Amino acid sequence: MAGHHADHRADVKAEKASDVPRIALNSGYDIPQLGYGVFKVPPQETEKFVSEALEIGYRHIDTAAIYDNEEGVGAAIATSGIPRDEIFLTTKLWNDRQAGDEPRAALEESITKLGVDYVDLYLVHWPAPDNGQFVNAWRHLAALSEGDAIRSIGVSNFLPEHLEKIHAETGVLPAVNQIELHPAYQQRDVVAWCADHGVHIEAWGPLGQGKYDLFGVPAVAAAAAAHRHTPAQVVLRWHIQKGNIIFPKSVNPHRLRENLDIFGFALSEAEMAAIDALDPGDGSGRVSAHPSEVH
Ligand SMILES: NC(=O)c1ccc[n+]([C@@H]2O[C@H](COP(=O)([O-])OP(=O)(O)OC[C@H]3O[C@@H](n4cnc5c(N)ncnc54)[C@H](OP(=O)(O)O)[C@@H]3O)[C@@H](O)[C@H]2O)c1
Repeated sequence: MAGHHADHRADVKAEKASDVPRIALNSGYDIPQLGYGVFKVPPQETEKFVSEALEIGYRHIDTAAIYDNEEGVGAAIATSGIPRDEIFLTTKLWNDRQAGDEPRAALEESITKLGVDYVDLYLVHWPAPDNGQFVNAWRHLAALSEGDAIRSIGVSNFLPEHLEKIHAETGVLPAVNQIELHPAYQQRDVVAWCADHGVHIEAWGPLGQGKYDLFGVPAVAAAAAAHRHTPAQVVLRWHIQKGNIIFPKSVNPHRLRENLDIFGFALSEAEMAAIDALDPGDGSGRVSAHPSEVH
């Protein structure tokens, strides 16, 4: 992309952004496999951190209406000078907007707060099965995706039973399912359903949200020492090699850079298998809410 007039810094940025692999979605669009997630990034600091992320080469931002920081994300995109179509932007429909025609109104509000003409990916944030509205929400997203305001649609925190239901009732498959996934909690049943149906996995909490000692376990620590990278980089690299789409959150400028710098080394099959083996298999590795608990 860099033309005659691009300065050296622009060249460096373009080169870094191009290190991140892109994954083709069932919508015909593709997504950078690594991005920056802004859950718990304080609203008043979001513009600063998203600007920093874009400056150092991130081109994929994951936010949500409920994070209350869409304005900051939008402000950073607007002032970045980066063409809109070079940034992949995701936001999400909150659970209290699933009924009736609310999804349409909620999308309009998000687009306005973000200050953009379209979002690249719009997700149903949780199935909230007790509310009984996720099929309605999905039907609305499918209809809205025919227009100009959304490029791809997906879901988040959907279990196979929820995926089966939206597929059976609408015939439309999501481009992605964004789920809690990290070495101690790999959700293999959900991953298998998605793989069988061409739905890509987005792994939220890729570092386990820092809630358990992931970095000290021998499989991770040994690979970090062997490759002269940090344990966090090893875990993120494991996700990339599994094919997961990730967007680790950090409000630390050093770690923001560290999390982007994972394309200069590769884990061996044995190192991958050792990290694969860290899930106890009984669901006890989950660090956040279960889909049946969020309404
Ligand atoms: N769909 C959903 O329901 C859902 C739920 C949760 C999250 N998400 C999305 O997924 C994104 C990522 O998940 P998450 O934020 O929950 O958890 P995460 O990315 O697994 O973990 C973030 C934590 O790890 C720390 N950290 C980040 N990079 C690090 C590094 N290199 N070394 C050591 N510590 C590091 C961060 O601290 P510092 O900030 O101090 O660096 C923060 O405490 C979110 O931002 C959001 O976009 C979606």
